[in-house]
Amino acid sequence: MAAPPLLDLPLVDERLAADISSGLRAVESLLRTHVESEDGFVTEASRHLIEAGGKRFRATLVLLAAQFGDPAAPGVIPGAVVVELTHLATLYHDDVMDEAPVRRGSPSANARWNNTVAILTGDYLFARASELLAGLGEEAIRIQAQTFSRLVRGQIRETVGPAEGEDPIQHYLDVMSDKTGSLIATSGQFGAMLAGAPEDLVWTITRACEAIGVAFQLSDDILDIASDTDESGKTPGTDLREGIVTLPVLQVLSSTDPADARLRDLVTSDLTHHDRHAEALALLRENPAMARARAELQRWADRAREDILTLPDIPARAAFESLCDYVVKRTG
Ligand code: IPE
Ligand code: IPE
Ligand code: MG
Ligand code: MG
Repeated sequence: MAAPPLLDLPLVDERLAADISSGLRAVESLLRTHVESEDGFVTEASRHLIEAGGKRFRATLVLLAAQFGDPAAPGVIPGAVVVELTHLATLYHDDVMDEAPVRRGSPSANARWNNTVAILTGDYLFARASELLAGLGEEAIRIQAQTFSRLVRGQIRETVGPAEGEDPIQHYLDVMSDKTGSLIATSGQFGAMLAGAPEDLVWTITRACEAIGVAFQLSDDILDIASDTDESGKTPGTDLREGIVTLPVLQVLSSTDPADARLRDLVTSDLTHHDRHAEALALLRENPAMARARAELQRWADRAREDILTLPDIPARAAFESLCDYVVKRTG
């Protein structure tokens, strides 16, 4: 089985490149076999998005973090599969909530089948992730449970929106940390912890990955506006259509520039209307709010880099650093 692409990581160190590639191959194989069910349809529905693609960003983080301990430790590959399965399950559910028709360049499960199949397949994937997790010990189980409750809290807070008097930008950043930073931080934590890395390194890696996670979600929100389906494998403007207020929109809403008046009106209107949605997307792409959102993304990537630079100078540290560039550069 081919290993997934390495996120443009310049893995100059041959041993590291070989380790990560063979780790990712093992992850791919376990991902597919572990979701197998006695029921052929359950297997098909579960493998649908696994086979559609995906970057395996979280699995890659587990493998990189494991380099700070013993990367061959037996919990590392199952740990990577647990985070990818958890992520995958959230994608099945997220596409129902966001009414997204396309995922990983393929029809979402809700589009290919229906919401019920997508929700139940997501539940099934969570259950399979838990089963694998049970073999990784009590601490890993507790961390994963706390991670998942943060992730769900993030999704709920995104849906409900800021409370009266709450700063919308702070609310947005809290949602970023909870819904995405949580699992990405846990990916780093699992890799380092399951490889038996020293505790102080585990914490530094966890904190760096949390910041990478916020940056990653910010870049995803920027890409939702700036990219086309070919690049992202998703439908552009999904957040706008669903009324999910992301940072560029928040910045337009707080702008007092008269030139932004039309866009401000549009983003506060019902954007399920096709022409208004197209106009809002086109105006937003040209708006200075995009540059401001990219500057915020850069700040989170820099914050992660600060922590990463305190880690021992092994080849995996340079790879971690280039991940900070990757999350910024992928927005173009
Ligand atoms: C998409 O995650 C959801 C977010 C948290 C932004 P990814 O961009 O990692 O999705 P895949 O796994 O590559 O499809
Ligand atoms: C993805 O969030 C789901 C989680 C982070 C739990 P989004 O809705 O922002 O991600 P995409 O753009 O659909 O991948
Ligand atoms: Mg979504
Ligand atoms: Mg969503």
